[in-house]
Amino acid sequence: MEYLQYEHSDGIATVTLNRPKAYNALNRGLLRELESLLETIRSDVAVRAVIITGAGEKAFAAGADIKEFSDFSPSQAQQMAQQGQALFRTIETFPKPVVAAVNGFALGGGCELAMACHFRTASTTARFGQPEVALGLIPGYGGTQRLPRLIGRGRALEMLMRGHPIDAQTALRWGLVNYVFSPEKLMDQTRDIILDIIKHSRLPLEKIIRAVTAGENNLEQGMTAESVLFGECFATEDFREGVMAFLERRTPHFKGR
Ligand code: CAA
Repeated sequence: MEYLQYEHSDGIATVTLNRPKAYNALNRGLLRELESLLETIRSDVAVRAVIITGAGEKAFAAGADIKEFSDFSPSQAQQMAQQGQALFRTIETFPKPVVAAVNGFALGGGCELAMACHFRTASTTARFGQPEVALGLIPGYGGTQRLPRLIGRGRALEMLMRGHPIDAQTALRWGLVNYVFSPEKLMDQTRDIILDIIKHSRLPLEKIIRAVTAGENNLEQGMTAESVLFGECFATEDFREGVMAFLERRTPHFKGR
């Protein structure tokens, strides 16, 4: 694999997003590899649970790869959102526990990936945010749906509309992560929690995930709306300006059209 590292021991698979120079931004190749690796893990009886983390010290993942989608049409963008949503739904409904160990920036699609996992641990250096608004955009991989469900509507709307990241302690207080550990201890402590889970039979674990998922209302409807609205952003001047400003490292000048 080009964009992922994979290892497993003691029944725990560790999947590491591995594009550290690009802050582990989620390009198409990485998402394709993740999709196929998850199918391998699903059918490997030796694997009881999964940790997803990021390579390097800076980032879990800084979002979808902006350079890759900058010239997409609205319909290409909507399709991109639908594909990402489907992959993240695979994670959310995965029959084995999936935990995000967030080791740095989890922004945009990176935050959305973490939120699709069953729960999250974080290092003290983690930052969570949905900065798409600064690109003239909205989240497209489920962020508008999962963030309010996890932290509440008011906090989510502020994060989505302001675009500023929150630190690990705030994420802990708001219920976005379950624990905050020092960077050195993040992986070991996360593994300890998972070992405690997988000492139980896989049968109730699988059914807990299914039951919790079955009780979530209107997620599909919200996802459809999100992908359509995400696509619509790509027809605006402000999206072009937002992306150009990011690439040119300057402040965007939005005109509301
Ligand atoms: N896509 C592509 N490349 C990215 C990236 C992204 N999302 N985030 C960071 N990178 C790249 C940068 O372009 C840079 O590469 P070069 O060295 O080749 O120029 C490298 O990673 C390091 O980034 P910075 O130099 O910017 O590092 P920094 O420490 O100054 O800032 C940061 C770090 C705050 C994470 C900043 O990189 C940033 O704001 N990134 C973009 C975050 C973002 O907007 N994410 C949302 C993407 S859209 C999305 O995800 C939509 C969706 O819901 C599907």
